[in-house]
Amino acid sequence: MPDQNPTNWEPVIVAFFCNWCTYTAADLAGVSRLRHAPNVRIVRIMCSGRVDPQFILTAFAKGADGVLIGGCHPGDCHYSEGNYKLLRRVRLLNRMLRDMGIEEKRFRLEWISASEGDKVKSVINEMVAQVKALGPLGLPKQYEELDKELEHIEQQSSGKEAHSHVG
Ligand code: FES
Repeated sequence: MPDQNPTNWEPVIVAFFCNWCTYTAADLAGVSRLRHAPNVRIVRIMCSGRVDPQFILTAFAKGADGVLIGGCHPGDCHYSEGNYKLLRRVRLLNRMLRDMGIEEKRFRLEWISASEGDKVKSVINEMVAQVKALGPLGLPKQYEELDKELEHIEQQSSGKEAHSHVG
């Protein structure tokens, strides 16, 4: 569990990396060690096109402060169009995240080939710094409070209903 003390707080970034490019780049650059660090949890996927918007929303809902996707450069996808499909979903997702009040710097898509170890490192470092500056997202806590509020409203309305039946 990451340290929740504000002075020691470290952001949690969930990174979905395509096996054929960004994951390999991370591995070659030794960034894979970060899998075990509190900041970045790397999830290896076979193609960025495999990333469903639900994965990103779930990562945020479960406590991620930022989500990064790394895929093959346009034209280099091993499944020919996976990254283009992802790009279309990302555009839609950006709008959804904005509506949910999630700052755009918390979600990033980068094309990083297997040979770009330096790029994967710099993108991760930059994103960790940006998310750190934004502070914790705290979606699980927000959801918890929202659940309590809804429960309260439900109780109140069922109480009123019972009352109106009596009357
Ligand atoms: S195989 Fe890497 S993005 Fe499709």
